[in-house]
Amino acid sequence: MYPKNNKNIRAWVFDVYGTLFDLDSVTSGIRHLFPPGVVDADAFSEMWRARQLQYAWLRSLTGRYTPFDQVTLDALNFTLNHFGLSGDPWRDRLMALYQKVEPYPEVVPTLKQLKKRGTPLVLLSNGTPESLSLIVSRAGLSDLFDAVLSVDSVRVYKPHPMAYRMAIDHLSLGPDQIGFVSSNGWDAFSAKAFGFWTLWCNRKGHSPECLPQHPDAVVRDLRELAERQTD
Ligand code: LAC
Repeated sequence: MYPKNNKNIRAWVFDVYGTLFDLDSVTSGIRHLFPPGVVDADAFSEMWRARQLQYAWLRSLTGRYTPFDQVTLDALNFTLNHFGLSGDPWRDRLMALYQKVEPYPEVVPTLKQLKKRGTPLVLLSNGTPESLSLIVSRAGLSDLFDAVLSVDSVRVYKPHPMAYRMAIDHLSLGPDQIGFVSSNGWDAFSAKAFGFWTLWCNRKGHSPECLPQHPDAVVRDLRELAERQTD
């Protein structure tokens, strides 16, 4: 599904973790780190990510912001406890997995094509400026982005409207002139509720969220974004 009602778009804004950068490498890293039979890597990874997101939202709701790297560490400590593991031998190596995430294979060619057409490309993430800058420069993508926006500047996490507003303020565009791309259903649906033209890159084939505002388009990976933009 990809309707052509996106002619108005003047800039693309991307979520980072799980959208441009593949978090499956975190799961493989967990699998390699622990001796066989110690943990179910998929269950560990799923709990860690779920707690990371929940803690970010809880900290926003309770007005107790702390940077995303700390949220990720807190979520890891919860997960280690849940699995009955003493954290010390593992903690640093597990945290390092987040610094080693890499872009999905179609991401670099797609971004290059979009960039060639002169459309500004921006990142908008719950991640910290330090971690975002590290993974973006490791992937050799620094020159492709016009801005890397971290919610750390507003100290509240997506999906709070103040976080999405950062893109509007930075680009001086209306929300419907911004194409927002996320693979995280909660993010795509909330960005639509905020007012962006929204593309849900549903990489894992999840069911649509039961939330009132549906993304404008759904794709399985980002290749179609560059192809359709030529229409
Ligand atoms: C991001 C995560 C939370 O904002 O997906 O990049």
